[in-house]
Amino acid sequence: MRTDTSATPTTVLRKDYTVPAFLVDTVDMGFDLDPAATRIATRITMRRNPASGSKEIVLFGEELELVQLRLNGKQLKPGQYQLEAGKLRIASAPAKVVLEIETLTSPEKNTSLMGLYVSNGNFFTQCEAEGFRKITYFPDRPDVMAKYTVMLRADKKKYPVLLSNGNLIEEGDLADGRHYAKWEDPFKKPSYLFALVAGNLVCQEQKYTLKSGREVLLQVWVEDGNLDKTQHAMDSLINSIRWDEERFGLELDLDRFMIVAVGDFNMGAMENKGLNIFNTKYVLANPRIATDVDYANIEAVVGHEYFHNWTGNRVTCRDWFQLSLKEGLTVFRDQEFSADMVGTDSGRAVKRIDDVRVLRQAQFPEDAGPMAHSVRPDSYVEINNFYTVTIYEKGAEVVRMYQTLFGRDGFRKGMDLYFERHDGQAVECDDFRAAMVDANGRDLSQFERWYSQAGTPRVRVQSKYDSAKKTYELTLTQTCAPTPGQAKKLPFHIPVAVGLLDSKGKDMPLRLQADGKGKANTETTRVLELTKAEQTFRFVEVAEQPVPSILRNFSAPVVLDVEYSDAELAFLLAHDSDPFNRWEAGQRLATRSLLVLTAAVQDASQAGHVVALQDVLNNAASNSGALGEAFGLILNDAALDAAFRELALTLPSETLLAEQTEVIDPQAIHTSRQYLRGKLGQALKDDLLAAYHANQTPGAYSPDAEASGKRALKNVALSYLIQADDEAAHALAQQQYDNANNMTDRLAALVALTNSSAPGKAAALEKFYEDFAQEALVIDKWFALQATAYTADVAAIRALSEHPAFTLKNPNRARSLIFSFCSGNPVNFHAVDGSGYEFWADQVIALNGVNPQVAARLARSLDRWRKYAPALQEKMRAALQRVAAAPDLSKDVLEVIGKALAN
Ligand code: TRP
Ligand code: ZN
Repeated sequence: MRTDTSATPTTVLRKDYTVPAFLVDTVDMGFDLDPAATRIATRITMRRNPASGSKEIVLFGEELELVQLRLNGKQLKPGQYQLEAGKLRIASAPAKVVLEIETLTSPEKNTSLMGLYVSNGNFFTQCEAEGFRKITYFPDRPDVMAKYTVMLRADKKKYPVLLSNGNLIEEGDLADGRHYAKWEDPFKKPSYLFALVAGNLVCQEQKYTLKSGREVLLQVWVEDGNLDKTQHAMDSLINSIRWDEERFGLELDLDRFMIVAVGDFNMGAMENKGLNIFNTKYVLANPRIATDVDYANIEAVVGHEYFHNWTGNRVTCRDWFQLSLKEGLTVFRDQEFSADMVGTDSGRAVKRIDDVRVLRQAQFPEDAGPMAHSVRPDSYVEINNFYTVTIYEKGAEVVRMYQTLFGRDGFRKGMDLYFERHDGQAVECDDFRAAMVDANGRDLSQFERWYSQAGTPRVRVQSKYDSAKKTYELTLTQTCAPTPGQAKKLPFHIPVAVGLLDSKGKDMPLRLQADGKGKANTETTRVLELTKAEQTFRFVEVAEQPVPSILRNFSAPVVLDVEYSDAELAFLLAHDSDPFNRWEAGQRLATRSLLVLTAAVQDASQAGHVVALQDVLNNAASNSGALGEAFGLILNDAALDAAFRELALTLPSETLLAEQTEVIDPQAIHTSRQYLRGKLGQALKDDLLAAYHANQTPGAYSPDAEASGKRALKNVALSYLIQADDEAAHALAQQQYDNANNMTDRLAALVALTNSSAPGKAAALEKFYEDFAQEALVIDKWFALQATAYTADVAAIRALSEHPAFTLKNPNRARSLIFSFCSGNPVNFHAVDGSGYEFWADQVIALNGVNPQVAARLARSLDRWRKYAPALQEKMRAALQRVAAAPDLSKDVLEVIGKALAN
């Protein structure tokens, strides 16, 4: 029986929260693991919660067979309990209760990858958010925390390794070739942090001594044959442990910490107490199979899950509306960790730019679309749909603003107080804010709106210099567009970091009128606190007309409207001491050119003029000369890190450009961007070639920031040269493909070839497949690079979906082809005949039957359908409606499609 589907799914409201009627002290579980039918015996000791008036026990359970139910030793018969709509209720239970529950589940039939499932013959669990209820009946909510003891029993040959949370306290052999292992987790935890792994796995392990002198055992578990790919994950784990001790004084609280890699996984990784389970994509790496980006992602995700041990596990969420309490904070921590691992100021800036790009490309559109929600939402239908860029990335920005306001030391004080108050508790976002505020002695009540209001604020800047009075005024105004269910927005508390550049490009000393006389201020960046709809800040003793550098280091998650001339942008790009704003100036300059080109292409096609497109573009591109000059300066500035130069030379993506147009025209955007890339490639040809050769990384591969930066710059140079359609560039790419000693260079060369007219491209694609047929993660790359090729039309993607190596059942593979196409190839996905949308609808419907969580992610590809021209809108609406009408839709997909059609 499927209990996760229904025609009218219920909406869960934050305001309906009530404390649990019963608290759980201990949970003892016994698993008899069998892929077809696993028997689970659970013994729960519970007692009435004095804070609740209710005597009713409510347990959740889904897709389970209930074999037996006993209360205080007595078997309960149907009638003594109610079983309905995924809930098991026992009406009037005594003050102290021991429940004994026996359930049966079929892991091999579980394609949702939630609860207990089989992947490549091994057992894994995934319980966040509400997967534990697919294992047994339980008060499966994060504010019910208990101590767990787990006995695992399985065939010893097939499943030699048996793992669960905490410490291994006993193991041994049983009859019939079976064996057992008993695990005890010394810490209270919510059920979503429960985990088990059983199977044929091997590990890299090592002992590590904490600062306190205590020794811990670290393990990275993988399938046999992958031990040559675990070193980087182990290094990242050790770095994470050390970093959390140094930066936040937080120590690993267990004697044993395990990471396990699994090939079938819905998301990136999961922070189960002491037993983190990871998508193989975020564990396995060696130079042959992993790119620089993979290496960086592994470090970030290993850090992220490890940091959850304190921010998430020791202090957890009261309810799922508080998800960003742990996710926003932990993303902020992993961002800071990655930045500190590079160490240099420019390295930190590169990381910051990368993170802001993700925010703008994915979160800003979410905030502007039908699924817009605040960092602490007020309602949801399916909680799995709320593991979003808003909860994670915008949540991290909100946490970062405390640090911007209070400084690193003030932030640390707030963290210390948070743990002092809440260790071992399940709390709310408000509790985190209170700790930050109390530790720093400031009233921050208005800051709460970052948690309650959805939408991206827009800050408009106007400036006035008075040369007689030597004053400079910045007037900031803020607005925020309505979002579904939230028409009216109140002003946010926005920290706006500002610097002023003199005519030589140097930072000016900053004195605000509000500072008063006397105290000298040597800071050249000031954080202005915008709290009203409009506010004016007056700088005094400003010797000359400055060029303002506003929102330095992206001090708040807002859109900044400021009118710069092309010359001012080029000036900022050349001189700003804030590397983020330096990059930003270049992006603004490029965006300006691209939007002019896009409008020209649209005008030409709408007017039906019989003008050659090339002429239209050439005319409109007259102002792109300045951009070419500015890019040339950056490209040739050897004082700048290669990684920074690569970011500065990369044009805003088509998706990002789309968001900045009134009505999205994917074809015109693509045409313009490709044209400008080609033009830049021609104009800067010699410099690009020189940079290509100057940034080679001979010798053994290392993923460090300097080497990976060089590869990035070299490869972006190659992509421009290829875009200029230079035959010499084809040869260069082919040569790079043949000689590469690492996946970063090999893949970059293959992408370049695939997006060129080079004669060798088909052969290279074929060879790549053959060489890496045994490496699932590389075959994912093979699908993804074809799915995002400019030449890949819907028919080509359909053909690839028939490839024997393709399957929807494996989320990584589904993402590599289907998601890459639907969200990473706008010009082909939005084919004017609507065939992309038909393909999308087919895949959403197919995935819905396999894995609702992953299907709902794909369903979001059409979120922004109302922003396209009417002809495309109609085709998108039809596709959405076809999905909406499909039978047996999960509530995951229903929620997404329902909201898209409603808003
Ligand atoms: N809590 C996990 C993290 O951010 C992610 C997660 C949530 C997850 N739900 C999941 C992972 C379901 C896999 C499947 O680190
Ligand atoms: Zn997380």
